[in-house]
Amino acid sequence: MNAWIRSILMPVQGTSYAGQVDGLFMFLIWVTVFFFLLVAGLLGWFVFKYRRRTPGEVTPDISHNTKLEVVWTAIPLAIVMFIFFWGFRTYMEAQVSPGDALEIQVTAKKWLWQFEYPNGMRTLNELHVPLGKPVKLIMTSEDVIHSFFVPTFRIKQDVVPNTYTQLWFQPAEPGMHRLLCAEYCGQGHSEMMGKIFVDDEKKFSEWLENGGDERKGMPLADLGALLFKSRGCQVCHSLDGTRGPGPSFKGVFGREVKLSDGKTVMADENYIRESIVAPQAKIVAGFEPVMPTFQGMLRDREISALVEFIKTQK
Ligand code: CUA
Repeated sequence: MNAWIRSILMPVQGTSYAGQVDGLFMFLIWVTVFFFLLVAGLLGWFVFKYRRRTPGEVTPDISHNTKLEVVWTAIPLAIVMFIFFWGFRTYMEAQVSPGDALEIQVTAKKWLWQFEYPNGMRTLNELHVPLGKPVKLIMTSEDVIHSFFVPTFRIKQDVVPNTYTQLWFQPAEPGMHRLLCAEYCGQGHSEMMGKIFVDDEKKFSEWLENGGDERKGMPLADLGALLFKSRGCQVCHSLDGTRGPGPSFKGVFGREVKLSDGKTVMADENYIRESIVAPQAKIVAGFEPVMPTFQGMLRDREISALVEFIKTQK
């Protein structure tokens, strides 16, 4: 019956920790149900038992009952202390990570999640983790307070500027899990979502190396089109010539580009590559130097893919 109620109330258990949280949660539910029935039952029974039988009947003057008062204080106290220690132990479990955990840096900012792996690989709104291996997150925020919340993992932790908070988990359920921001952080709060992919260790390390199978076999220009959307290039760079915060990609390849310092440069492969990894090096005339660097956030093949994609924008 517990499992059935859980399946209605809660999402899948994506970690072994989720089982512990659910165990405590179900215990709280049953304690609540028990005391609700006890109190409501006694109430009904007393209403009936002590009803006024004759007009003018007088209630005896009962001031207290020491034995009863001790019992109804001691039993609830014992129950809440039991719940406290159970909850405390479970909480500590989520806070103290095992020494061999894979450490991933998490940076939250309006309104996205950035992850950085020990090998320097960085991703946006997409976290890949190995199945059955402990993962430790070291988290901080660049602006306001956000909250890292994964319902299927039963973990939630505030992500605070100027300080590091941490969390660890051991994924037990392969597939995609949803990451949400659970602290109101402004206009884009409800869109501050990410995906957590739990893969077996082989698939995970392959992904860490080269971005996964699907992308390995993809033609460069197609991969570039995918990255153009997923990495957010399209927010500032249009494909139809419309002027945005950044220059449009339409027809840019192979053209002379006027720079803000009065020089001109040929928009070739090297110019585009430099504009991706060191965007401040050459600023196009009439634009602000607002683009962040993608150094370390794109693999070499991905940069080549974006160059190919930009080439196709005639
Ligand atoms: Cu970030 Cu809400």
